[in-house]
Amino acid sequence: MSEHEHRSVVAIVPAAGSGQRFGSAGNKLFADLAGAPIWLRTIRRLREAPSMSSIVMPVAQSDQSYFSGFTQQLSELDVHLVNGGAERWQSVQSGLDWAINRRAEFVAVHDAARPLVTVEEIEATIDEARVADAAILSVPITGTVRRRTSQGSTLVDRRELFSAATPQVFSTALLHEAYLNHRGRLATDDGELVQRLGKQVATVVGQPTNLKITHPGDLVLAEAILASELNS
Ligand code: CTP
Ligand code: MG
Repeated sequence: MSEHEHRSVVAIVPAAGSGQRFGSAGNKLFADLAGAPIWLRTIRRLREAPSMSSIVMPVAQSDQSYFSGFTQQLSELDVHLVNGGAERWQSVQSGLDWAINRRAEFVAVHDAARPLVTVEEIEATIDEARVADAAILSVPITGTVRRRTSQGSTLVDRRELFSAATPQVFSTALLHEAYLNHRGRLATDDGELVQRLGKQVATVVGQPTNLKITHPGDLVLAEAILASELNS
């Protein structure tokens, strides 16, 4: 194994959802964002990150024919398609199996629905995972947060609160162990699965611009953010 392979980072890009909340007829990831489909913009961002080696993208069986129209682009970008599952974690697991086969040292799980992540955010999360084994990009909560109690409510110190985004980067061996331990129990994300092993998960501070396209209105915001990037 070459030194490069030993330090390699494979991106796992789950794209096998159906986009229920987005409400379009097909997968929301096919929607146009300033001239390119959402998933392709996401892949291009990951490709720009110098630490990234291969990319594996779990897709739904029903979307195979759509993606077969992009065969050449996918191979130029070194993107490998695998079968996703009914739940996001099943899609991630299928990408993880591919990465394990490839002997990747690290995996970076990144939602195909987050096309605005920056190269700096990707690299910072990878750098932290190389130190801590597990690192997730997170965004500080900006609002005032209160916790309901039996008497009323108390203010929560928001300096302690972050919302988890992606990429979430792990040593491949650690995420593998987390999935072996998972056995289908409910978890909100891969960070939670890793935490169940008693491992600390580091957070890297990201920007609120790394939105996950969920509702149609998010596309409007995403276009504005892209336009502002071009002007800066
Ligand atoms: N995803 C996946 N496999 C699934 C479900 C989701 O690979 N079974 C992917 C989505 O394609 C998306 C990412 O996980 O890139 C984050 O999921 P989300 O934003 O919730 O997308 P959807 O599940 O498609 O949308 P919704 O929950 O509104 O149906
Ligand atoms: Mg979903």
